[in-house]
Amino acid sequence: MSDRSVNAHILKSLQLSALNSGVFDGRQWLSTSAGDVLTSENPANAQRLAEVQCCDAQAYQAVLENARQAAQQWRQIPAPVRGELVRKIGLRLRDNKELLGRLVSMEMGKIYQEGLGEVQEMIDMADFAVGQSRMLYGKTLHSERPQHRMYEQWQPLGVVAVITAFNFPVAVWAWNAFNALITGNSVIWRPSAKAPLCAIAVQKICAEVMQEQDTPAVLSLFVESGSELVEQMIEDRDVALVSFTGSSAVGRQVGGRVAARMGRSLLELSGNNALIVDETADLDLAVPAIVFGSVGTAGQRCTTTRRLFLHNAIYDELVVRLIKAYQQVRIGDPLDDSVLMGPLIDEPARQNYLVAVAEAEEAGSELLFSGPVPTQSGFYVSPTIMASQNHWAIVQQETFGPLLHVMRYHALEHAIAMQNAVPQGLSSALFTNHIRHAELFLSAQGSDCGIANINIGTSGAEIGGAFGGEKDTGGGREAGSDAWQSYMRRQTSTINWGDELPLAQGINFDLGK
Ligand code: UN1
Repeated sequence: MSDRSVNAHILKSLQLSALNSGVFDGRQWLSTSAGDVLTSENPANAQRLAEVQCCDAQAYQAVLENARQAAQQWRQIPAPVRGELVRKIGLRLRDNKELLGRLVSMEMGKIYQEGLGEVQEMIDMADFAVGQSRMLYGKTLHSERPQHRMYEQWQPLGVVAVITAFNFPVAVWAWNAFNALITGNSVIWRPSAKAPLCAIAVQKICAEVMQEQDTPAVLSLFVESGSELVEQMIEDRDVALVSFTGSSAVGRQVGGRVAARMGRSLLELSGNNALIVDETADLDLAVPAIVFGSVGTAGQRCTTTRRLFLHNAIYDELVVRLIKAYQQVRIGDPLDDSVLMGPLIDEPARQNYLVAVAEAEEAGSELLFSGPVPTQSGFYVSPTIMASQNHWAIVQQETFGPLLHVMRYHALEHAIAMQNAVPQGLSSALFTNHIRHAELFLSAQGSDCGIANINIGTSGAEIGGAFGGEKDTGGGREAGSDAWQSYMRRQTSTINWGDELPLAQGINFDLGK
């Protein structure tokens, strides 16, 4: 079969056609007249995969109204029963893992192994959420008043909007959606216009399960090419929580606008992650971790390793080994098993990357590695290693591509200070065999990031932990641990079972007889 017919087979098996509706209102796929038509392209060859008929203002209102009503019904269903929907979705995702993994690879450009990993991340999240649906624990507290009992309980929020980025076109939705579902909310998904087919395919799988389970319209989706409708959604008081993944610049606006109407937001924004290798580190571990961290997903993860601090004693050896490893990285079609790095998402992304490399050169970076780029059509670049300085503007910003800045240090305290001296605070890592170094890195004087790893790279977090970062990364926590609490409101209840009405703080308020 030719590549084209394989692609067509995958799309068809996932119920996608040449032209797809980009609006699911929780019950059905709507046909829209006013929405424009979006073309989804394969970044590996710039060829069209399929088209999407975008949402229009009227269809958006239908989505919102259904989500509002669905939230009211869904919150009455016991949490473990809500978990059953997520369990069934998890099973269906298992059945479709290879197909979805391929679609992620075709539409987003990450290699097939990473496409599979992304679907596995959804499955893991489903399993986690199913268990969590029986563990929405609140505390029992001791009242200061006699014959009083106090407790905290958690209630659903209502409608949760999930705005996702192209780089993790399905997994990050799953982190949010599965937690939001078990906690009793309805979810409106607004995927990136750069990866709409992945979202539509996942929504189709979920829609089948929802129909079989006869659930209210708890999962819906709309695709748009611009930002008119998403801006409306952000402002909408019916949307209790806006979960946004994207750049710090856009996230700052989203957070501000949601806060202005006293709504809640959950922000997963830019990272500028550093990896430190000290003089005791096992370089056999460090080298592959650095390569996966900086080249994986063609440097388009929020957790990508962008800065490398090397102790003076191992600097030369590690740079030589790194360059050798980079020379082994095959760049090309992400569905080819021997390829480790696919293309960037589109031509603007490629241009941004080239401009960033040029800016670093202008600032004074020394080019340590840049290799040949495949000549086929597609948005390919070479991964680049540069010796730079941490305070340069180009190093302080997140360049969404495989650009790695290397820096030398003499004292770990200084490396940690440089690591922290950027606006972002998502992920960080130290490679060491020295217990004091490890403990310093993980202490209050250590990494200021949401993720701090020892002898593990900056990317590739498991879903069981709370995922998110500090400072310009936005402060949100999603996925595992107690992140489910972000999708609920906390209620404190005090029950008086006595026949007196004592006041708190011992206040005497005597009305007399
Ligand atoms: C992202 O890039 O937005 O830790 C998420 C990781 C993945 C998630 C990345 N599990 O690299």
